[in-house]
Amino acid sequence: MIKILSTRFEFDQYRNSLGHDSVGLVPTMGNLHEGHLSLLKQSMLENMVSVITIFVNPKQFGPSEDFDRYPRTLEEDISKISQLAIHSDKEIIVFVPKSIQEIYPENFNSVISIKGITQKLEGRFRPDHFDGVSTVVYRLFVIVAAKNAYFGQKDFQQCAVIKQMVNDLELKINIVIMPIIRNSEGLALSSRNQYLSEDERIEALTLPRTLQALELLILEEGNYDTFVAKTLSENIKWDYLEVLNAETLNLPDPFTKKLVIVGAYRLMSARLLDNRLVHKL
Ligand code: PAF
Repeated sequence: MIKILSTRFEFDQYRNSLGHDSVGLVPTMGNLHEGHLSLLKQSMLENMVSVITIFVNPKQFGPSEDFDRYPRTLEEDISKISQLAIHSDKEIIVFVPKSIQEIYPENFNSVISIKGITQKLEGRFRPDHFDGVSTVVYRLFVIVAAKNAYFGQKDFQQCAVIKQMVNDLELKINIVIMPIIRNSEGLALSSRNQYLSEDERIEALTLPRTLQALELLILEEGNYDTFVAKTLSENIKWDYLEVLNAETLNLPDPFTKKLVIVGAYRLMSARLLDNRLVHKL
């Protein structure tokens, strides 16, 4: 069963009626693809009720970013969610706030700002982005009061920021990170992929292929620093390509076993992110 709610009033009424049923939260900005649907499927497995939110959060877009043209495809999104609902006896609530004020009331004047890990990688290119993300995610945690919340590993740094927030503020919510879903050629699914031209779609494969090559090199104990330096110097479209400690996002030491390779690659029409987790033996 699927229910669509668009105001805070409606949502609160519904939420109060639920009692102690376990609730899973899947926060999204819409334009749903298989990556989002994998989060919803997992939530449906683990909870009685799943709340998927569709809200293009203005606070996480910089002044020259794509807030206005971000793909808004509500009808298609609802139809994809309905397909999942048909094959399940679990309840799905689609919360689509009808205005920004449903999430940030008129006198809302707070920011949740996580320090440290937000200053590197994406933080260097999108200065207030993570304040916008942590503020909206915190708001959704408060509104939905879920037991579990589901995020995609594709936005690795975002996951780390949210985990840090949950830990620092002692929020009573369990964070579940789901693996990256890729297309048949290896490109990580993202709503922004649709900005790409045909040629750019081909060039975009540089990102996952480089990360994969780097993973092999790490597993073979090769000199990956030289590979990274060479890649960055040969192609200025990389915003960054780094191998980090997957727990802290700091530089690894020789004993670090769990690494993450993170990359951001700039094309004319979109900026693409990808990552790979590597477990050294
Ligand atoms: O990953 C996203 O789509 C967004 O950053 C999120 C978590 C829904 C917050 O707006």
